[in-house]
Amino acid sequence: MSAHIINGRELADDLRAQMKDEVSKLHEQGIYPSLTVVLVGENPASLSYVKGKERASKKIGMHSNLIQLPASTSEQQLLGLIDQLNNDTTVHGILVQLPLPSHISEDIIIEAISPAKDVDGFHPISIGRMIAGKDTFLPCTPYGIMTMLDEKGITVEGKHAVILGRSRIVGKPIGQMLLNRHATVTYCHSRTKQLDRYLQQADILIVAIGQAHFITDKQIKEDAVVIDVGINRLEDGSIVGDVDFDSAKEKASYITPVPKGVGPMTITMLLQNTIKAARQMNQ
Ligand code: GUN
Repeated sequence: MSAHIINGRELADDLRAQMKDEVSKLHEQGIYPSLTVVLVGENPASLSYVKGKERASKKIGMHSNLIQLPASTSEQQLLGLIDQLNNDTTVHGILVQLPLPSHISEDIIIEAISPAKDVDGFHPISIGRMIAGKDTFLPCTPYGIMTMLDEKGITVEGKHAVILGRSRIVGKPIGQMLLNRHATVTYCHSRTKQLDRYLQQADILIVAIGQAHFITDKQIKEDAVVIDVGINRLEDGSIVGDVDFDSAKEKASYITPVPKGVGPMTITMLLQNTIKAARQMNQ
């Protein structure tokens, strides 16, 4: 039987409609949730991402401020800006778009952001709290994946979750979040030997490696839940995931498409984190 398709676009739109109401209720209390996005340099993909974040914020009535700095900006200058934003009580969320130019240390910049405003969930304090299972800002893509699983009523407890990819932004944190929810978690990556042995055992398979159509129906277990985080542009301009959707959907029980899968959920969770930051700062 063909899999249930988890439509991230529809879910994101529903959640954003709820957030729009939440934001207008906060306005009535004199709280104006506000996100500041910092972009250093002119990477076209990054510019398109940050514009998307700005558009989505404005659509739910959230104040959004994009600060664009030249690629020649020094680490010291960027640290100065972050210090200013940390101390600005009208700014609730700070996001510095990655990657940064190579002369700026991403670690130093991420650690300079106040954990109270770390809506990306990348600060070591946020990561540590997440690993400890404490309330914190969760990184947006894995948070979006967990929200999709929950919304579809997919049980995580006791399932074998296999994570393909070990990035700081997706692979590592999604494994921790699934572990916190009592899944048995296996991490696989480019140096994993006999990869198919693990894939065949995955009740939940999360694929985040950035290789078009890497996974086909042959590698997945019957009735697996397949979450595709990949966004790959083919030569003809089309966007596809890391999973061969057409074959995999015939074997999976649930599957996310690309586009309209995980992608729209990432920005949605960023908005959610910013609302949370605004609430916490006004408690
Ligand atoms: N670059 C690609 N994805 C992200 C993200 O989620 N946050 C930031 N800050 N930079 C990114």
